[in-house]
Amino acid sequence: MPADQPADQPAPTQAEISALIDGNLHLEGPMLPILHAVQAAFGHIPAAALGLIATALNLTRAEVHGVVSFYHDFREAPAGRHVLKLCRAEACQAVGANALAQDVLARLGVDWHGTTVDGAVTVEPVYCLGLCACGPALSLDGRAVGRVDAARLQDVLRGVGV
Ligand code: FES
Repeated sequence: MPADQPADQPAPTQAEISALIDGNLHLEGPMLPILHAVQAAFGHIPAAALGLIATALNLTRAEVHGVVSFYHDFREAPAGRHVLKLCRAEACQAVGANALAQDVLARLGVDWHGTTVDGAVTVEPVYCLGLCACGPALSLDGRAVGRVDAARLQDVLRGVGV
């Protein structure tokens, strides 16, 4: 599980990012290991990392950005203090995940990958939490919760001060 670096932490330095790149450059197909290492260290992929990774892999910055934006696990900005992941995969959709997601996003006033203005919660999509028989499912800071109805959702949100 990636670290969640608070938004008020100092930005990672070029040297810190380069050390992570260098540490994974020997691997075959180093792009994803580098991105995972950067996200694990900083909680997101800083914009400054895109150019450094591109140079190291002889790619364009746009190509690296394309990979970052393709994978839902990578964040382009620091997360809030809590990360709420809502399952959007098929089994959960069949039992109301879309309505649940719209309810959560509306209540928190954010869109996908958004963070509440107080920095408390970031909402992200996830494609299966392994609780398919107990949907709709979500996870809060890595703890999975199944059979989420209005009451359970209320408990989860109350747990993060919303
Ligand atoms: S489809 Fe939602 S947990 Fe598997």
